[in-house]
Amino acid sequence: PVRQFTATAALRCFLEQCRINGGDIGFVPTMGALHAGHRSLIERAKQENSWVVVSIFVNPLQFGPNEDFDQYPRTLAADRALCEQIGVDVIFTPAPDDLGVLAPSPTQVMPPASMQSGLCGASRPGHFDGVATIVTKLLNIVQPTRAYFGQKDAQQLAILQRVVQDLNINTTLVPCPIVRESSGLALSSRNQYLSDAEKAQAPQIYAGLSAAEQLFRQGERQSRKLIGQVESQLATAPKIVLEYVELVDSETLTPLSEVSKTGLLAVAARLGKTRLIDNVLLRTR
Ligand code: PAJ
Repeated sequence: PVRQFTATAALRCFLEQCRINGGDIGFVPTMGALHAGHRSLIERAKQENSWVVVSIFVNPLQFGPNEDFDQYPRTLAADRALCEQIGVDVIFTPAPDDLGVLAPSPTQVMPPASMQSGLCGASRPGHFDGVATIVTKLLNIVQPTRAYFGQKDAQQLAILQRVVQDLNINTTLVPCPIVRESSGLALSSRNQYLSDAEKAQAPQIYAGLSAAEQLFRQGERQSRKLIGQVESQLATAPKIVLEYVELVDSETLTPLSEVSKTGLLAVAARLGKTRLIDNVLLRTR
């Protein structure tokens, strides 16, 4: 059966024994409300490591004052059952006061401004400081061999790669592909906020990205054209209000005027009150 820890000291003590017994530790940080996207990360971790740790923590540091921290789905019993079914060894469910993130002004990790000025960083000030801070803390506690992150949150992944490099954290971050519904809609814990009418139009986000990807495969390299393709596809879905379409370097996140080797084409949009993100990697081969 899966072991659940809420106390950091007890978790550290257990993982110390795992390390003494030998074998790699794989770690999947989450905010819970687990779906097939999370499942794919956990299964990958299971394949590649002797021990698998999943953390479930809705991190207050990464939510803005007008964001959905209070409404964010919390489904611990179902999450636990899923972890149990996949064969996860440990679930870490820290209490917020135990992690010290509710203190008035805790020490924070601040990734480079250049990686936070565009994409989601532009409309979510402080969000990636909050993500970088909590993930650094979790990596310090768990000290995993590998940690698994979805390409769905491409800016988060690029920033965390940079944090791990800059702070000499001894963990390999493993990028995992985006899991989608058959409609093309990327799985997200926030999809359950969508009304039926919004849900019907949401797949247009990926349809737009796919149209641009097809144009890219036909040889188009100009950002203006590729972005325009996404915008014109999304103009046909009146419930989708675009926040941004950007084409950036997938590692540094600097905007590209044309794709020479690899580009990250990323979208954020609102459907009613729900904010969704998605992206595709454009690669010449
Ligand atoms: P959360 O949104 O719960 O996502 C946890 C992990 O699952 C992230 O690495 C995310 O990219 C991945 N994921 C989510 N949807 C996915 C999908 N459709 N396909 C593949 N992977 C997917 O991201 C966070 O939590 C938090 O910011 C966290 C890293 C836990 C820090 O608080």
